[in-house]
Amino acid sequence: MTKPIRIALTKGRLEKDTVALFEKLGFDCTQLHNKGRKLILQVPDANLEVVLAKAADVITYVEHGVCDLGVVGKDTIMEHGGSFFEITDLGFGRCRFALCGPEGRDFYGGYAVKTIASKYPGVTRRFFAGKGMDIQIVKIEGSVELAPLLGLSDAIVDIVETGSTLRENGLEVYEDVAPISARVIVNTASIKLRKQEIEGLIARIEAVL
Ligand code: PRP
Repeated sequence: MTKPIRIALTKGRLEKDTVALFEKLGFDCTQLHNKGRKLILQVPDANLEVVLAKAADVITYVEHGVCDLGVVGKDTIMEHGGSFFEITDLGFGRCRFALCGPEGRDFYGGYAVKTIASKYPGVTRRFFAGKGMDIQIVKIEGSVELAPLLGLSDAIVDIVETGSTLRENGLEVYEDVAPISARVIVNTASIKLRKQEIEGLIARIEAVL
């Protein structure tokens, strides 16, 4: 048996969706279902080794070549960047980046420089640079919706999935920024050195999407 292809999965929802995808492919997911606190697991019949990591770390491991492949959200890819190939849109983990704020305000009205809170300062900066609009950014780590409610910012750039968090807090979408879904990324050397195996796996995945 050759060395397994190592794939980093973003822990949590994308992990669950990816395991469901592996099951659809008929892979033996026993270890993934009974993982306990183990972080490296085998899918023996597919010659795959699965590494469970946080989203930004999935990119780091793939960039450094310690993992051949990764499954990570487009949100993390857009914020983090890096040198790897993004090869497949898995179609799950669908949500969007949006500019949101208190209901009924005219966000683009007036001349004062606006303050935007976000967990994604890079995405926010590029979005407003594209409009040629000067803004201030405040980095927030979670529950970003709090920032405009507390008067810290005029708006937020955040992930919207169902829209419930916005609705329940009197906020609304002012403008969509970008669609998000889970992507497969590949290390730039692995794609050459293990071309056949990686292309074979991706073709099987794409056939069931
Ligand atoms: C995300 C996002 C929103 C919420 C959107 O937060 O930042 O707060 O989900 O989902 P909805 O449109 O379905 O309500 P997450 O739950 O990941 O936690 P965080 O705010 O701590 O990052």
